Amino acid sequence: MAELLVSAPAKINLHLEVLGLRPDGFHELAMVMQTLDLADQLSIRPTADGAISLTCDRQDLPTDGSNLVVKAGELLRARVGLPELGAAIHLHKRIPIGAGLAGGSSNGAAALVGLNHLWGCGFSSAQLHAMAAELGSDMPFCIAGGTQLCFGRGEQLEPAGLEAAPALGVLLIKHPQASVSTPWAYGRCRELRSDFYLEAEVEFEQRREALRTGALLAGLRGEAALPPIRNDLQAVVEPEVASVREGLALLRQATGALAVAMSGSGPSLFALFPNAEAAAAAHTQLAVDLAAAGFEAWCCRCTGCGVTLG
Ligand code: C5P
Repeated sequence: MAELLVSAPAKINLHLEVLGLRPDGFHELAMVMQTLDLADQLSIRPTADGAISLTCDRQDLPTDGSNLVVKAGELLRARVGLPELGAAIHLHKRIPIGAGLAGGSSNGAAALVGLNHLWGCGFSSAQLHAMAAELGSDMPFCIAGGTQLCFGRGEQLEPAGLEAAPALGVLLIKHPQASVSTPWAYGRCRELRSDFYLEAEVEFEQRREALRTGALLAGLRGEAALPPIRNDLQAVVEPEVASVREGLALLRQATGALAVAMSGSGPSLFALFPNAEAAAAAHTQLAVDLAAAGFEAWCCRCTGCGVTLG
């Protein structure tokens, strides 16, 4: 059977608010996530030998059973109950690794959607969503993509209700040597901030409603100026990671930047601009300083889609 190509986009957080701790030990979150036109590509060839193999053009990425692509294939195969199903998967990596851009989650989401199609499993979107949520908090969002409010662990999605993806241009940067462990960032957040965590569901719901009706969504709809971006993990990571402090200071110098923030648990950083041309101009403006400080940079646009079969 022919190879199937699946696109797995990166995301940024336009809002990441830690509300409190959940009984399952995860954090209760209120977020806005946005997919970008920076994407990895999976090529998947189905086999009937019961082996799910993964290769990648980045040698530093584990391709064993710890990779969410392999985990997604194994979960899907177990649910459909056909152990002879196999796949040879190649991952063409463009999204920086360990960056807070959900690259790994998006790869896993792409494997779920692609293998569901190739193996003819016939799972519905709701069933895939549930399997994605079992594998990782960001994975349901990666399947859906676009601009979404994400609650609970991050797996409960509500479309932001925009007519189209925001026309914003995005300048994304990451220091190749920097990486932040997501469990570490949340653990540190708990150490530093848990005295301020909310506890009651009614308080969580007030914060969700404030996000639904607040300045960020009005700004994304173009009805008002974009407010500063809130990322509660940034306050935790910034003091500990020099490249985050340095990168934020550089991005704040960009002409025309509407907002500057860290994505997810970092260490990738981004600046938003009114359009893609302004992001490209800022990239040119900062190119020498970014290169001198060792940062990689990407100019991106927001997209309305998640995982896409090609
Ligand atoms: O769900 P995922 O595997 O992406 O989460 C990685 C880690 O991040 C979790 O093990 C947990 O330490 C932390 N986390 C959290 N609360 C969330 C999401 C993630 O504490 N809502």
